[in-house]
Amino acid sequence: MEILKAENLKAYYLLDIGGKLHSVRAVDDINISIKENEIYGIAGESGCGKSTLIKTLYGMVEPPLNVVDGKVYYRIDNEYKNIFSLNGALESIRWNYISYIPQGSMSVLNPVVKIIESFWDFIGSRVDISDKSTWRKNIEEHFALLGLPTKVLDAYPHQLSGGMRQRVTIALATILSPKIIVADEPSTALDVVAQRAVIQLLKEIQKNLKNTIILVTHDMGVHASISDRIAIMYAGKIVEEAPTSEIFESPRHPYTKYLIGALPKIGDKSYKVSAPGAPPSLLNSPSGCRFHPRCSQAMEECKVNVPELISVNSEHRVACFLYSKEREL
Ligand SMILES: Nc1ncnc2c1ncn2[C@@H]1O[C@H](COP(=O)(O)OP(=O)(O)O)[C@@H](O)[C@H]1O
Ligand code: SF4
Ligand SMILES: [Mg+2]
Repeated sequence: MEILKAENLKAYYLLDIGGKLHSVRAVDDINISIKENEIYGIAGESGCGKSTLIKTLYGMVEPPLNVVDGKVYYRIDNEYKNIFSLNGALESIRWNYISYIPQGSMSVLNPVVKIIESFWDFIGSRVDISDKSTWRKNIEEHFALLGLPTKVLDAYPHQLSGGMRQRVTIALATILSPKIIVADEPSTALDVVAQRAVIQLLKEIQKNLKNTIILVTHDMGVHASISDRIAIMYAGKIVEEAPTSEIFESPRHPYTKYLIGALPKIGDKSYKVSAPGAPPSLLNSPSGCRFHPRCSQAMEECKVNVPELISVNSEHRVACFLYSKEREL
């Protein structure tokens, strides 16, 4: 069953440049349904709008970011609630219904206090922690469940490695057993060993809490090892979505093929397929299919018309003119 849905979601950064209003169309008409108990991956190169999308799904929309259209629903007590009309109530469900691990989450931990103090700060506003010894026990049990040493609670953030700090941040985000966890590049900027530990931890959490994880990373290798389904984002739009095995075995969109082709393979010394260039500025994105300036298969209509996200089967959607009912390859 679906736990979170976005319908026709548009979130733009509205900027005043020289007295004129400009929009950075970072999230541009997105429709997704995320299921209970799944790890939903969001992939795409840097600058494609991944962080903006999950901030918006979390309801963290502050100027210059504006939701200009569309809705985000959470299923709470079997009812779909539009989060943009929850107002103050949205704040009250953070950490216990949905939690967010921001990109560069080291900043979540207060550098001048011991880790346990960060826990008191975060959960103190959500639950009654007057019985601190019971809560300390709960936190220690949570650490044990996640395979983290409890002595870390009495350390300062600077005494821990980057990987350990990231795992502590994940422990913090999950201490109140939220139904949804939104994580932005949690393993990026870590060494390979620490990266693996973070991914393993997220897998364990999903298994234990039976919750939903929305995982953003530009790293397709990480998605291959953890995500159940993947949405590929390009220039503010979802261009393909399918179960992970299908994305890797039969990618349809030229951009997805490029992302997979760019992955290093063991023993493969061949030259990687490249899509020259980089994602466009979203202040002035290309007409038609936004990928057309980089696409080797671009046709005339790609420069003019915007391809709709269409279903190629019940679980696989793609937005590309190479695929339509008549022209299915
Ligand atoms: N505060 C901001 N003001 C204006 N533009 C922004 C802001 N934050 C991000 N952007 C722009 O929005 C686009 C998407 O950024 P982001 O969501 O961070 O992408 P990703 O997470 O995929 O790297 C980029 O073009 C970026 O420059
Ligand atoms: S719609 Fe056209 S330009 Fe866009 S990905 Fe498909 S073939 Fe390439
Ligand atoms: Mg980002």
